[in-house]
Formats: sequence, structure tokens, C-alpha cells
Amino acid sequence: MQAKLKVSRYDPETMGQGQQRWDEFELDVHPNATVLDALIQIREEVDGTLALRCACRASICGSCGMRVNGDAKLVCKSRIADVGEEGATIVVEPMGNQAVIKDLVVTLDTFFDKVRQVDPYLQPDSEPEQGEYVASDESMVNLLTAMNCIMCGACVSDCTVLEVDEAFIGPAALAKAWRFVEDPRDDQRDARLEELNDVEGGIWDCTRCFKCVEVCPKDVAPMDRIMEMRDMAIEAGNTNTSGYRHTESFNKSVKKHGRLDEARLAVESAGYTNVPRLIDLAEIGVKSVLKGKMPPIVPHKADEKEKITRIFEKVESERGS
Ligand code: FES
Repeated sequence: MQAKLKVSRYDPETMGQGQQRWDEFELDVHPNATVLDALIQIREEVDGTLALRCACRASICGSCGMRVNGDAKLVCKSRIADVGEEGATIVVEPMGNQAVIKDLVVTLDTFFDKVRQVDPYLQPDSEPEQGEYVASDESMVNLLTAMNCIMCGACVSDCTVLEVDEAFIGPAALAKAWRFVEDPRDDQRDARLEELNDVEGGIWDCTRCFKCVEVCPKDVAPMDRIMEMRDMAIEAGNTNTSGYRHTESFNKSVKKHGRLDEARLAVESAGYTNVPRLIDLAEIGVKSVLKGKMPPIVPHKADEKEKITRIFEKVESERGS
């Protein structure tokens, strides 16, 4: 079968960082060929200067992460026949949110710096009683989702927060943090949660866009792990953060009015004692009024408000809160 590929190229010896050019290739490939097979064919038969990274070719090692038609994927797992309309050009780029070394190869330095930031190793307080630390089968099954991570960087590539905030620890490292928070052999659970709750770029900076869940090739669902750590951090008593206040204010206003009270949300998230932030918000409020964008001080009630309140009451009674 025929495959058409449009491949991003970057040569650090002749181009400035951030520049790229596009090369197009047409090949005869096997009907079951993957995007990686096609790229290797290009390198071997057409252009030996094409740089790409791969090893296992079986979606195990995590080294072949790239963007295909705009989404991060393992190219060894992506069949050409599956990634687009028949005959359509397949666009291949290096992963996002990481500096390009050459063509389709990115540096993973920042990725691993962030993983190291969460202390990705067991920290027990005492020596093992039986020569080794024993964990139940159930607790290890619970860890399997996060332990499936092959550190390919796909979630980091397409994280919409990292695009605008380099300080965010990011989905891969936070999923790794969850793996140790949940491990019964670790004795730093509360300290880990406190750190992830307080640190700049921690668990409250995820915007829940679902992109990491969508692109993860191993179903680690990093965003779900981050949301679980938010609940754990709150249960452990970490409530003095704008993230917690935001959650509380959001719930309160939707329960009360059936819709979001945006003006109150901004003030309550900042905290009534956070004077510098309140002054900032006052300036934003004045600008909003002048441009006719100020949300109503008393929010309108939603038409189905009673139903929405009943949903909250049902959830709260089931949780016993
Ligand atoms: Fe190992 Fe693709 S080459 S995961």
C-alpha cells in the first residue's frame, strides 16, 4: 500500500532552536506497517540523515514517542492504516513541551528532572521484619495502573498546562508520585501529599483537560491519579490552598444556585485574607465592569436548580458528609 508522510525536520547545525522545515515522502509499505516502520524505511532507503529514536518496536521501551497528526503516540504502536483516512498525508512531528535535539528526537532532561522532584523511590521508616518489605496482593494490584507507565513522555508532550507553565510538575511525574503515595511500604505518605499540595506546580495546577488520559498509550490516566491525590491531600488536612478553596467555593455555589458564581469563586479561591490578590481582583473587576463583562453579583438561579441541589444532597448523604 502507499503511504504519504510529512515529516518535521530540524538540524541544530544549520537552524536556530524553534525552527523547522517539512519534508514529504511517498512510500510503498506493507499493509500492516506502522508509522515507525515507514520512518525507518525513509531513513534506510531515502534520507539517511533522518533522526528518530526507537528500541523495542513493541510498545515496551517508551522511546518512540512522537506527534502523529497532532497527538502524541508511540509510533511503533500506530499502524498507518489506523491513523488517518486512506491515502491522506500523515503528519509526524517531535513531541511537544520538550526541546528538540534533531528532527524527531527530543531531550527528556526536563521530563526526568520532574520525575526526580517527586522522590520516586520507597522511603520506609524501619528495617524490614522478614528480610524484605511485604505488600499484599491487593495493594500491588491497586498500583498496577501507575506502574504500567513506560515513561514515554506522551502525556507531558500534550499537557496543556505545561504549554504555558514550565513549573507544573506534569502528569507523568505526578502519576509516579501517586504510585509511592499509595504504596503501603512507604512511610512518607503524608509528607509527600503535603509537599505536592503546597509546591508551585503541584496537584492543584492540573486543569483537568483530559489530554493526558487521551494520549497515554498504557492507560495510566495520570489526571485521575492527580484528582485522587487532591482528595487524599484534603483528607490529610491540607486545606489552606487556593486549590482547595476553589473546589469548596465551586461546589457551594453550584449547589446553592445551580450554576457557578464566578465573582465569588475568584474572591473565595484567593482567600479573604490574601490582600495583594484581592487588590489584583479588584482591578480586574473594574476592567470587567468597564467592558461589560462583569458577572452578576447575585447569580441567576438555573432553571433546574432544585434537581441540581438534590444531586448534591444525594452524593453528600452517600458519602456521609
Ligand atoms: Fe519501544 Fe516504541 S520502540 S515503545
